[in-house]
Amino acid sequence: MKIGLIYYSGTGNTRKVAESLKERLESNGHTAIIDEITIEGNTPAQAGKFELTSVPDPRSYDAAVFGAPVQAFNLNPVMKAYLDKLPGMDKLDTAVFITKQLPLLWTGGTGSVAQVKSALEARGANVLGTQIVVWSGKKREQSIRECLDSIGNLFNG
Ligand SMILES: Cc1cc2nc3c(=O)[nH]c(=O)nc-3n(C[C@H](O)[C@H](O)[C@H](O)COP(=O)(O)O)c2cc1C
Repeated sequence: MKIGLIYYSGTGNTRKVAESLKERLESNGHTAIIDEITIEGNTPAQAGKFELTSVPDPRSYDAAVFGAPVQAFNLNPVMKAYLDKLPGMDKLDTAVFITKQLPLLWTGGTGSVAQVKSALEARGANVLGTQIVVWSGKKREQSIRECLDSIGNLFNG
């Protein structure tokens, strides 16, 4: 299966997870393609103060994984702007991962997952799985491993 890894990363954490996911998906026999959302503007991006310079089209793939960081207890504004531009994705299989620093639940992770998931579903995609990767010291390795084990194996059936 040709799987697109569509993500925004401000400081590189989300990119690192996407790159590891690419390796895992490829070791499971897929072709995984990094397709980064990019902007022109300062980081951290502020709503209305950047332009999207790359808007990946998920319809180019047999399946797509979407990744983004939490910013200020919310979904990063770049991913929000990207979601507004998403086309219809008739039954495309997808997954979502969110990266964040803080281990506590109320600091933006669950809300960000829900926001991406509902945008994808509103455009007809099937969301097969979601993961939150916590970046703070102790949890990081385990959290990345859980994300790779889960999303890395979602498209094998
Ligand atoms: C401006 C800013 C605000 C952030 N706000 C939060 C937050 O509210 N909750 C949280 O858990 N992490 C927060 N973080 C941490 C990032 O979500 C985390 O480092 C993430 O992995 C960054 O991904 P990236 O390197 O792909 O941009 C914030 C980071 C920045 C730069």
